[in-house]
Amino acid sequence: MMKLRSMLFVPADSEKKMNRGLTSGADALIIDLEDSVAPANKPQARTMAAAFIEAHQNDSPAALFVRINPLDSGMALDDLAAVVQSGLAGIMLPKTLSAECVRIAGHYLSAFETKAGMPLGYLSIVPVATETAQAMLNMQTFNQPIPRLAGITWGAEDLSAAIGAVSNRDENGEYAPLYKMAGAMCLLAAASTGVPAIDTLYTDFKDPAGLLLSCRNARRRGYSGRIAIHPDQVSTINEAFTPSEAEIVHAQRIVDAFAANPGAGTLGLDGKMVDMPHLKQARRTLGLSA
Ligand code: COA
Ligand code: MG
Repeated sequence: MMKLRSMLFVPADSEKKMNRGLTSGADALIIDLEDSVAPANKPQARTMAAAFIEAHQNDSPAALFVRINPLDSGMALDDLAAVVQSGLAGIMLPKTLSAECVRIAGHYLSAFETKAGMPLGYLSIVPVATETAQAMLNMQTFNQPIPRLAGITWGAEDLSAAIGAVSNRDENGEYAPLYKMAGAMCLLAAASTGVPAIDTLYTDFKDPAGLLLSCRNARRRGYSGRIAIHPDQVSTINEAFTPSEAEIVHAQRIVDAFAANPGAGTLGLDGKMVDMPHLKQARRTLGLSA
């Protein structure tokens, strides 16, 4: 499975930012055709995105994704027609209404892959799954594996706009319950479909300490990566979502303990009980199939 610890947004109408993205250390760039590009700039942004993908199809250290416009925007097919070509790794699909949107986008990709002479089924899809009220009510549709799905992420900004909230934060600065629920639904949907959960962006890009703390919490909760909106966020995200040396050593000890005691369902290690869920988590930390 593709490594998606850090996915950095780069607006497609900024050649400077796209180029800067290449040296950011991000696992993936999300070349944005949606909200960071004004409507009047969309045609030019498509052309710039396509040229960038073509220019870096062989030398990009980051997987190249494009965030297209929503399926019901009337722009998605023009976006795909412009950018599906060799060098593209996948698309981010904003404002999905349900898993059905991912399937429909998958059919579109099949058609454009065929046109581009790419292997059928090559392109991945990462939906932003919580951006509308309907999407939230339909999160249970992400309950089984879906072709092309490579991760699921969530957003709090569009959701608050969709329901007419003044803010998605309470007065103490914490996410209001609906947005905590959106993040939790993202974790459930990702686990149910067997893909990584990718945490939403951290807006304050001048606060590396806050970002690190937030990423550590995200990883504890089950996220395996995060969206970045600024190149300065990438190294913090990569660090937070990489197991530490101590975690790897501990995970290896759990795996070794069970290997040395075949047939044991539960063991004592350093005076603490470890059983199957611990083994599963340890295998995941080591990058083994859980
Ligand atoms: N990707 C690549 N480069 C970026 C970048 C990004 N996402 N964000 C900033 N940079 C570059 C800037 O171009 C600038 O380059 P320079 O030093 O050569 O001038 C440098 O990093 C420092 O930028 P800074 O001044 O700190 O930020 P800014 O005020 O120029 O930009 C944002 C702030 C939020 C507009 C910008 O970070 C951005 O465009 N982020 C992505 C927005 C997006 O795609 N949103 C959609 C998803 S929510
Ligand atoms: Mg948005």
